[in-house]
Amino acid sequence: MTIRMTLGAATVLSLVAGAAAAQTEIKIGYALAEDSHYGVAAKAFEEAISEALPDQFTFRDFPSSGLGGEREVIEGIQLGTVEATIVSSGTLSSFVPEAGVFDVPFLFRDLNHARTVLDGPIGQDMLAKFDDVGMHALAWGEQGFRHLTNNRGAVNSTEDMAGLKIRTMENPVHIEAFEALGAAPTPMAWPEVIPALEQGAIDGQENPLSVIVSANLSEVQKYLTLDGHVYSPAMILVSQKLWSELDDSQKQVFEDAADKAVVAMRAYVDDVEQSGVETLREAGMEVNELDEAQKTAFREALAGPYEDYRNQFGGELMDQIINTQ
Ligand code: PAF
Repeated sequence: MTIRMTLGAATVLSLVAGAAAAQTEIKIGYALAEDSHYGVAAKAFEEAISEALPDQFTFRDFPSSGLGGEREVIEGIQLGTVEATIVSSGTLSSFVPEAGVFDVPFLFRDLNHARTVLDGPIGQDMLAKFDDVGMHALAWGEQGFRHLTNNRGAVNSTEDMAGLKIRTMENPVHIEAFEALGAAPTPMAWPEVIPALEQGAIDGQENPLSVIVSANLSEVQKYLTLDGHVYSPAMILVSQKLWSELDDSQKQVFEDAADKAVVAMRAYVDDVEQSGVETLREAGMEVNELDEAQKTAFREALAGPYEDYRNQFGGELMDQIINTQ
């Protein structure tokens, strides 16, 4: 009797262990907090998969750069040591340079324009290119338009920008633009940015309201200039290793889950675009917005870089993006 019970318990234990072993663990790394637009998207992605495919996958989130900077996480995706991530196109264009076109300053008119391009053939063709470099791009996400913050003073003109030490992403398109605007761009991985601002090693940085609010940049930055200089979308990616292990029905679930994640991320961005400026003012930031004439002066200062961008990404592609309604 005792032996039979022991065997029974052992059988149950081994069945439980077998079921647990059959679950695939998905480590998902991203740069921002769990209550950011990235965290909200990760949650929606995981919930959609768990609901459609119960007990097949477990998820371990590594928010707030828990797996390192975006570049390191993407390298982990390529190696297959990280299964999923949500990252900015600003980092991704080191891996698929063509994707840098979405980081060209003042290319998109507004969020609707950007979403239409990314959800249409231009954006979807770009996603396919990531399969050639050891990743599978599931969907374009979003952060919002990037704005400038700093501790030196309000920026209304290129004169105000002169010599301003601005942390940029490690992205040649961004660096060239800030040089042309007269600033002193300082490329740096995101995990180093807040310490560098605290220590005064840099004057400012640039990111969308979604990041400025969720990363509490008001604690280390005084001035916010709403210039919307670059769009730079986000992307939801998985490793080729994981992707190649999924069957067709699982792949469909992942695609659908990424679509739900994008809906959640865009809703977060829409919300923070409405409320973010007030939140930051209440937190003590001084906010100014460039008017059309001031924006035109910025665009004119970018004429030289624009020639380079057209050569690099193709004038025809840039025109197609600009002309998308
Ligand atoms: O500025 C950046 O590096 C990115 O916008 C961030 C904050 C890591 C989100 O992708």
